[in-house]
Amino acid sequence: MSAYETADLTSVSKTMLLTLHARAEHTLSDRPRFTDPAAVELVSRLDYDFTMARQDRLMADGVVLRTLTLDPLVAGYLATHPGCTVVNMACGLDTRFQRLDDGHVTWYDLDLPDVIELRRRLLDDSERHRTIAASALDPDWPDQLGEGKAGGNVSNDALVIVEGLSMYLEQNEMRSLMEIIAARLPGATVLIEVMPRMFQKYGRERSVEDAGVRYTYGCSSAAEFRRTVAPGYTLLHDVPFTRTVARYHPLLAPLTRMPLVDRLAERIVVLRAPA
Ligand SMILES: C[S@@+](CC[C@H](N)C(=O)[O-])C[C@H]1O[C@@H](n2cnc3c(N)ncnc32)[C@H](O)[C@@H]1O
Repeated sequence: MSAYETADLTSVSKTMLLTLHARAEHTLSDRPRFTDPAAVELVSRLDYDFTMARQDRLMADGVVLRTLTLDPLVAGYLATHPGCTVVNMACGLDTRFQRLDDGHVTWYDLDLPDVIELRRRLLDDSERHRTIAASALDPDWPDQLGEGKAGGNVSNDALVIVEGLSMYLEQNEMRSLMEIIAARLPGATVLIEVMPRMFQKYGRERSVEDAGVRYTYGCSSAAEFRRTVAPGYTLLHDVPFTRTVARYHPLLAPLTRMPLVDRLAERIVVLRAPA
């Protein structure tokens, strides 16, 4: 077999191939704003028809924007918490570890068992980079943290990344995930991508629809997210993707500050779990 099979993946897990392709394609573009050679290599090794991923500009541009938003937040955390632990929920074939590894972080990539099985065939685990095969909603996944870290206490300086997952959950599942993190990683910092409710209800991304999935959860502000699914958490930052747009296109900055535009923006909500 020349390429790795993807046919057995569930619909929602196939979406990881779309996001992977978006990062690989951006890397190969004329003037990339980030590069991800590991993503390029992974795409070349997979048996998957990426035609829809190539045609869906809305999806691809959104993934580039969220990478440009999240990467500096994660890099900033690593710089200020040397030797910390990162848990990347719903990792898919994400290669943020390869992009941002500072030589000290212990990084766990978690996804459903089928995905992790495929991932392990393509990418090796190592002492500081491990995979966890579990649902994010399984309250026992935190048992697998700390195994690679000599005497490590993962909770004090843990960073949890939830990228590309919340929109596929129900609101009660989103709340359960936040409860698991709070119970098992007290004081952890959580970076979570949240889709605006308007887009969740009426937005369409052709490649995602083609994969057979629909969006089930959206929320239109960081404050509402904290109040409805993360009570007890402290809201640290609200980082709408429009801020990243303004960073690269200063002329659009006044537009991105308008309240209506803010409510329609995808965002990273940054919270601290109760200690
Ligand atoms: C859009 S992909 C995002 C992948 C990756 N975060 C990225 O940005 O490339 C959605 C991912 O969520 C994973 N997923 C869906 N439900 C999950 C669950 N309950 N627990 C863990 N992962 C889940 C899928 O398997 C898939 O890899």
